[in-house]
Amino acid sequence: MNANSIVYTSNTGYTAEYARLLGDKTGLPVYSLAEAEQKLAAGNCVIYLGWLMAGKVQGYKKAAKRYKVQAVCGVGMGGNGSQLQEVRKANAIPEKTPLFTLQGGFDIQKLRGIYKLMMTIMVKTAGKGLAEKQDRTPDEDVMLDMMTQGGSRVSAENLAEVLAWVEQG
Ligand SMILES: Cc1cc2nc3c(=O)[nH]c(=O)nc-3n(C[C@H](O)[C@H](O)[C@H](O)COP(=O)(O)O)c2cc1C
Repeated sequence: MNANSIVYTSNTGYTAEYARLLGDKTGLPVYSLAEAEQKLAAGNCVIYLGWLMAGKVQGYKKAAKRYKVQAVCGVGMGGNGSQLQEVRKANAIPEKTPLFTLQGGFDIQKLRGIYKLMMTIMVKTAGKGLAEKQDRTPDEDVMLDMMTQGGSRVSAENLAEVLAWVEQG
């Protein structure tokens, strides 16, 4: 087994949903990072899932200090498997560590404070820009759909690659 636990950081619940789904499929125990700090000893081998904020996998740095992170999942608005190079670079994830991006969800009503403000501005600026863009890439189409329609894109199918990696270990 390449990891013995799943650790995650979630703001509005989509990453937590993925962590639970992955826990159900693999039988591995699931902890939020805050829980893990109390209950899971440092040095354990974990799969880490964090929501993406401006390209940063939330909590990854902290998790990598305490645990042996065997694989990272960044949960964002973009499509499954998108933004891999950017996310690896922005978070300094070692080349040997498998990285997966999973499409989560977006619901402005679930956001509070600064995050709500940031996304309100983002939808108005980046969203408007994308809507007006003539030559959108497929990834940009997915992002625009998420910004305008919102909702959850969490599904067990999106975890297929992560599960294949766990099974091979
Ligand atoms: C302030 C802010 C910044 C975000 N930046 C990104 C981003 O850079 N890339 C991305 O794909 N999604 C981005 N998102 C979308 C979230 O990652 C997405 O909604 C995710 O599913 C949230 O997961 P959670 O429910 O576990 O918090 C951002 C959301 C917020 C609120």
